[in-house]
Amino acid sequence: MSSRTVIRGGLVVTASDEIHADVLIEDGRIAALAASGTPAAGAFSAARVIDATGKYVIPGGVDAHTHMELPFGGTFASDTFETGTRAAAWGGTTTIVDFAVQSVGHTLREGLDTWHAKAEGNCAIDYAFHMIVSDVNEETLKEMDLLVEEGVTSFKQFMAYPGVFYSDDGQILRAMQRSAGNGGLIMMHAENGIAIDVLVEQALARGESDPRYHGEVRKALLEAEATHRAIRLAQVAGAPLYVVHVSAMEAVAELARARDEGLNVFGETCPQYLFLSTDNLAEPGFEGAKYVCSTPLRPKEHQARLWQGLRTNDLQVVSTDHCPFCFTGQKELGRGDFSRIPNGLPGVENRMDLLHQAVVDGHISRRRWIEIACATPARMFGLYPKKGTIAPGADADVVIYDPHAEQVMSVQSHHMNVDYSAYEGKRVTGRVETVLSRGEPVIDQREYTGHAGHGVYTPRSTCQYLT
Ligand code: URP
Ligand code: ZN
Ligand code: ZN
Ligand code: ZN
Repeated sequence: MSSRTVIRGGLVVTASDEIHADVLIEDGRIAALAASGTPAAGAFSAARVIDATGKYVIPGGVDAHTHMELPFGGTFASDTFETGTRAAAWGGTTTIVDFAVQSVGHTLREGLDTWHAKAEGNCAIDYAFHMIVSDVNEETLKEMDLLVEEGVTSFKQFMAYPGVFYSDDGQILRAMQRSAGNGGLIMMHAENGIAIDVLVEQALARGESDPRYHGEVRKALLEAEATHRAIRLAQVAGAPLYVVHVSAMEAVAELARARDEGLNVFGETCPQYLFLSTDNLAEPGFEGAKYVCSTPLRPKEHQARLWQGLRTNDLQVVSTDHCPFCFTGQKELGRGDFSRIPNGLPGVENRMDLLHQAVVDGHISRRRWIEIACATPARMFGLYPKKGTIAPGADADVVIYDPHAEQVMSVQSHHMNVDYSAYEGKRVTGRVETVLSRGEPVIDQREYTGHAGHGVYTPRSTCQYLT
């Protein structure tokens, strides 16, 4: 028995089109689209009919950068795969790509197995993995080939965090050379961590211990320098490069220049860099700790360059870098020493709404919203067209979005397992109404109807953005 749903009368928005169409879903996939009101659409029949009149019908969000349960600074990110994927669904995201971690002295396989064990049976929406490579050696390089073959096709390296995740230039070059051969994509945390650690030590010696100094020592120039270095190392290796959580306008300029030279380099930014700033880091008391992440929030003037980059395609993706730590007991670990504040912000639930607000504010078009939040992340990380679009054959990961509803973001109403909202009190226009994951309602008219274990592991092909 096939299960069918039809979504009637909405405006279907994808990265390429806006059409008033009815959408037929069969057995968890998009079966057909037909212009609303035509005989072809009238012939769609289904047990379940969703009226989307006056609403947008959009692909479920693809958040290509999350850290559920990430160990960091002696604690763990506060969202589990269960709570974090439920919150993602509430926010209209139907796929996450989380980062499995290789710890120094361990294999990639051990790290990946650990992350599978954390996620399996717990997710409300589909998930995939990137691999953080912290220990580049002969064995690791061989393992990268195997991981690409089994659907883990991207690898994050860190130019920051010496002694933890850090790789030196030689290790980075080796991993890039390997990825040039096996089709993997290197994702770079581009900050000069060695220089930053010197500035941290000097700031603390001067008694500068408040959260705002986190932003001062992690200088924009040290992001730009590392971005430049990563680009040139990738060029030497003949490998594509994806720079994560770009926040500095000088780093965007490096990406733009490299792209103008014809290099396959790509950039991701995050809502926190588009909507928050060093003003938040400087909030009185210890409030600024809520906004400590790396790369850090920048002065407001950087935001215009990020929006421009998103419009001109010098930046291609907006992910959340969701890495929540509670204020009480977690962010508080850094009272009296900003360098001990666990790095990361909550946001997996807020991304689709904040980017819709960017449409309302005129920063980006509706189709660009879907492109940077759904289609391009799916393409970049080998999930397209299964994910990221509404087209026959695609998974029926579909959001009915009310573009007129008003909401106020708050810890009182969000579903992330964290005791504050980075956007407390922010008014946005637009709200998720219903979310289908492979045709099954996860959010139904603002009621959670999903379940842990519905979400399945989704192996990926290599980057499709290059072809
Ligand atoms: O502050 C951040 N971004 N925490 C998560 C780890 C990372 O570097 O992405
Ligand atoms: Zn990072
Ligand atoms: Zn991250
Ligand atoms: Zn289910």
